[in-house]
Amino acid sequence: MANKITNLFQIKYPIIQAGMVWNSGWRLASASSNAGILGLIGAGSMYPEVLREHIQKCKQATQKPFGVNVPMLYPDIDKIMDIIVEEGVKIVFTSAGNPKTWTSWLKGRGITVVHVVSSVKFALKAQEAGVDAVVAEGFEAGGHNGREETTTFTLIPMVREEIQIPLIAAGGIATGQGMLAAMVLGADAVQVGSRFVASEESSAHQAFKKVVVEAKEGDTQLTLKELAPVRLIKNKFYEDVQALYKTSPSVEQLKDLLGRARAKRGMFEGDLEEGELEIGQIAGLIHDIKPVAQIVNDLMQEFEDAKRAVSDL
Ligand SMILES: Cc1cc2nc3c(=O)[nH]c(=O)nc-3n(C[C@H](O)[C@H](O)[C@H](O)COP(=O)(O)O)c2cc1C
Repeated sequence: MANKITNLFQIKYPIIQAGMVWNSGWRLASASSNAGILGLIGAGSMYPEVLREHIQKCKQATQKPFGVNVPMLYPDIDKIMDIIVEEGVKIVFTSAGNPKTWTSWLKGRGITVVHVVSSVKFALKAQEAGVDAVVAEGFEAGGHNGREETTTFTLIPMVREEIQIPLIAAGGIATGQGMLAAMVLGADAVQVGSRFVASEESSAHQAFKKVVVEAKEGDTQLTLKELAPVRLIKNKFYEDVQALYKTSPSVEQLKDLLGRARAKRGMFEGDLEEGELEIGQIAGLIHDIKPVAQIVNDLMQEFEDAKRAVSDL
C-alpha cells in the first residue's frame, strides 16, 4: 500500500508505532519497523546516554527505517538532539512544544520532521515551521494531551481542511476499522499508542499491561490540566488527585502531589496504586497482549475487511 506517508518514511503500511515514555524502547521500535510500519523510540523517559544505547540496539535489530520521539519539555533536549544526529537517526517526531524551535535545525541536518498537535491552530503553526507531516492527536489518546478536548473524529477533518502537508491521525485507533475511519476523515496514516503498550515487546511492566487489557470503557480520565493534561487509569493516585481538587489546590500543591517519577513507578515498575498509569480510552477495546507482528497483521487484515464491508453498504 503506497501513499504520501509510506513514501515519506519508506515503510510498507501507513501506521506509526507511537513514541511512548517507559513503553517504547528499542525492542518495540525495531519489532514495529520489522513488521513494516514506522517504529519510534520514546526519548522522553531516557537519559541522553540511555537514548544512545537504544538507538544503537535498534540499528542492530532492524535494517528498516525507525525514528525517535522527542517531547520538547525535555530538560536536556540539546544533548538528545546531538545524539540523534551523531547516531544518524533520519526521522524525528517532536511533541509538547513550539515546532519552530527545532524544525529547521533538524531539517538542516537531513532529518525528516513530524510534529504532534492537538488543535488546528498548532497544525498550522507546525506547517508554517516547515515540518514534513503533522500528527493530529485527539482527546481520547493516552499520555499527555491538549487542553481543547477535541476528539479525533472532529480534529482530523478540521485539520485536513486547513493544512496541505501529510496528516497522521492519533487517538483512539487500535483496530483496522478505526484506521479506515481516520483515513476516510482525511488522514494519510495513523499513529497507534495504547494498542502497542499491550504488546509483548513494549517495556511496560507486566502488571500495567494486565491493567490495560482489563480496562473497560470509562476507566480513564484526562486530569492535571493545570500542569500538563494527561489521560490516566483511575487508580489510587488518580483518586488522590481528585480528592486534592476538592480543596481548590494551588499549582504548587498539585506539583507536590505528582512529585517525581510517578510515570516510571506506575508503567515501568508496576506500582498500580501510587504510579501514574497513562493509557487511552481505546484500552476498553484492547483485550490481549500480542506480539507486534501479529498486531500489525491484524490491523491490516481488519482494514481490508472493513474496506470490503463499507463497499457493501
Ligand atoms: C503510555 C503512553 C506514553 C506516551 N508518551 C508519549 C511521549 O513520550 N511523547 C509523545 O509525543 N506522545 C506520547 N504518548 C502519546 C502517543 O504518542 C500517541 O499519540 C497516543 O498514544 C495515541 O493515542 P492512543 O493511545 O489512543 O493510540 C504516550 C501515550 C501513551 C499511551
